[in-house]
Amino acid sequence: MIVSGSASQSLAASLAAETGRALATVEVERFPDGELLASVPDFAGDEAVVVAATVSDAAHLELLQLQDAVREAGATTVTTVLPYMGYARQDKPFAAGHPVSARAMARAISTGADRVLVVNPHAAVTDFFDPPAVALDAAGRLAEPLPGDLVDPLFLAPDANARRIAEPVRDAYGAGAVDHFEKTRRSSTEVEIAPSDADVAGRDVVVVDDIVATGGTMSEAIAVLAERGVGRVFVGCVHPVLAAGARLKLARAGVEAVFGTDTVEGAVTAVSVAPTVAAAL
Ligand code: R5P
Repeated sequence: MIVSGSASQSLAASLAAETGRALATVEVERFPDGELLASVPDFAGDEAVVVAATVSDAAHLELLQLQDAVREAGATTVTTVLPYMGYARQDKPFAAGHPVSARAMARAISTGADRVLVVNPHAAVTDFFDPPAVALDAAGRLAEPLPGDLVDPLFLAPDANARRIAEPVRDAYGAGAVDHFEKTRRSSTEVEIAPSDADVAGRDVVVVDDIVATGGTMSEAIAVLAERGVGRVFVGCVHPVLAAGARLKLARAGVEAVFGTDTVEGAVTAVSVAPTVAAAL
């Protein structure tokens, strides 16, 4: 049976349809003091696939409860699917005294899982888990919502690391070139983008990244493109986290459309990663 965290209900439903597995009824309540209580039905003799994007601290806590609840309810095995793994970007201490938050989260999740699947984690976090953990690549799915009439398309990564996202999108689209900018992060909200010599005049550009959080990276990249007479600019990301103000920032930068997957369910979710997850179950 598939068990959905509160933040992953659409993906869980798509995954149930994709795999033919039943979707468990999950109830989430709060005690008068604010403590959470997530409960599940009887699981005797069934496998549990817990699908929960850890988009908030509450979602993390809910996931830990769901893993424990399915075990209590008799699940034979627990596979945890992290469509979006929160804290994954903190994969090392950034300063003396800082935690490795990704490792701390992975250790907690490991206590209740027999196997973990993580969709496009930002960093190499799979080694932080105790049970076998696999990173799934759903980037190619971002080609689906793109219009079929892109003019001489360029799939642009805001930094070299994001080419691993841009290349599968270009491959799935079936046409176009890939290039990348160089990015220097000045703070959690400020980045500097150094352009490549890519000629973008009159071309449609799809800027592709794993995550859009504050929108700072994308808006800086779009500003550079605008100075060079770009055609239409589309933004695609696997995880549309879109922190407060990010969507407006992109609109002001002049983007034609923003789209993401259902790893983070929201206004710009345009395609599901369910087929990618189903293939790995
Ligand atoms: C960082 O290296 C990631 O790949 C993204 O570029 C970053 O997380 C985006 O964050 P923001 O939208 O806040 O610039």
